[in-house]
Amino acid sequence: YDIIKAAYATTAVRRDQYPEGNVPEVAFLGRSNVGKSSLINSLCNHRGLARVSGAPGKTQTINYFSAALRRRDEEEGEQRLPFYLVDLPGYGFAKTGGRNRDMWSAFIGEYVTQSPNLCVLCLLVDLRHPGLAIDQQAYDWLASAGVPLQIVGTKADKLKANEKNRNLAQLNKLFPSDRPALAYSSLKRDGFGPLAKNLFERVL
Ligand code: GTP
Ligand code: MG
Repeated sequence: YDIIKAAYATTAVRRDQYPEGNVPEVAFLGRSNVGKSSLINSLCNHRGLARVSGAPGKTQTINYFSAALRRRDEEEGEQRLPFYLVDLPGYGFAKTGGRNRDMWSAFIGEYVTQSPNLCVLCLLVDLRHPGLAIDQQAYDWLASAGVPLQIVGTKADKLKANEKNRNLAQLNKLFPSDRPALAYSSLKRDGFGPLAKNLFERVL
């Protein structure tokens, strides 16, 4: 698997701004600073595609990046599947409190529940901190809304192998979904194969 031809497509905050057509979408949600934009850049092997920042609250709109999933198969030859990667604003950032937080949940809620082309939503959780209350709230809400989920444990490069396995098991217990949680490091592109395979199979 490979992701090719990644480019910025469009930005939305309301439903009437979503792109037209029926291109499948993979979206990325999680706490501010958990590494959503970095994950998109790393998956696409395209530094600077989505804006990354050390300060939380960088992404404030729904940003669509167009790309193609490419698969080479001995029998079936090469397949190319156009799709969107969708970068969402993070939750749990103090400055986005009060009125802002209500706005956040309204427009993210609308996207998550009313996007006809959303195939899978990656819920990113910092692999060093499984089971934060705010992630649990997000998971509970998404699960009850019936959103197809892929749990991704981010910043895996910051953990030793045994801690990684222990925390992944914890994520699977706390946030059960159709498929197991996967660890990923945007820094090292560690975990690309399994994640790309999982996404490809659900976008098909
Ligand atoms: P918001 O847009 O503010 O919600 O944040 P985000 O979730 O998009 O996070 P972003 O990708 O901007 O990354 C936040 C910080 O974490 C940056 O300083 C990144 O360099 C760092 N980071 C992201 N992924 C990784 C990773 O896999 N490993 C390490 N070590 N650092 C990472
Ligand atoms: Mg971001």
